[in-house]
Amino acid sequence: MKIKIADLEFEPLISESLIAERTKTIGQQLNADYPNSVPVFVGVLNGSFLFIADLIKHIDIPCEIAFTKLASYYGGTTSKLKIREDIDLIVDIKDRDVIIIEDIVDTGNTLNYLVEKLKLRKPNSISVCSLLLKPAALQNPIDELKYVGFEIENEFVVGYGLDYQELGRNLNSIYKKV
Ligand code: IMP
Repeated sequence: MKIKIADLEFEPLISESLIAERTKTIGQQLNADYPNSVPVFVGVLNGSFLFIADLIKHIDIPCEIAFTKLASYYGGTTSKLKIREDIDLIVDIKDRDVIIIEDIVDTGNTLNYLVEKLKLRKPNSISVCSLLLKPAALQNPIDELKYVGFEIENEFVVGYGLDYQELGRNLNSIYKKV
C-alpha cells in the first residue's frame, strides 16, 4: 500500500518481519564475534534509534551503549557533503572495541567522518553495522563496515528510524520513494 509523507509518495520495500529476522541474525553474529570483549555500541542518532534498540535485545555478551548525533541530509533526499555534528560521543573509547550502529550508508561520507574521528581516540578496534547499504552510492570503500542488514538500490527510503523531513521515523517497516 502506498503512503504519502509531506509531498512525496512511498511504497513498501522491507517488511517489519524481515527486519526483525535479519536483526536477530546480526545480533547472533556479534555475540559470536566479540566473545571476550565488552564492546561499546555507538548508535548514530537520529536514524539508528529503532535499529539499535531492537539489535541490542539480541546481544547477550556484556556491553555498553552510547550515542552520537550527526546529520548529513538536513531534511532533503540527497546527501550533503558537509556533515553537521550535533552531539559528540562522550564515552572514553581508548582501548575499547567499538561497534558503530548506523541506519544507512549512502555516499559513506558520514561514516568515514565518524570512523576517522573515533580512530583518533585510540580504540582497540572499530567495526560498523548498518541496517541498510546503497552500494551504488558508496563513494569510497569503508573497511570497518562488517555487518550490513540489507543492500538496496540507490533510492530514497523512509521508515524504521529513517526520515523524510523528520517524518516517517515511526513507521515499523521500510518504504521507498515511488
Ligand atoms: P551518507 O553520508 O551519504 O552515507 O549518508 C548517511 C546519512 O544520510 C544516514 O545516516 C541518514 O541519516 C541519511 N540518509 C542516507 N540515505 C537516506 C535515505 O534513503 N533516507 C533517509 N535518510 C538517508
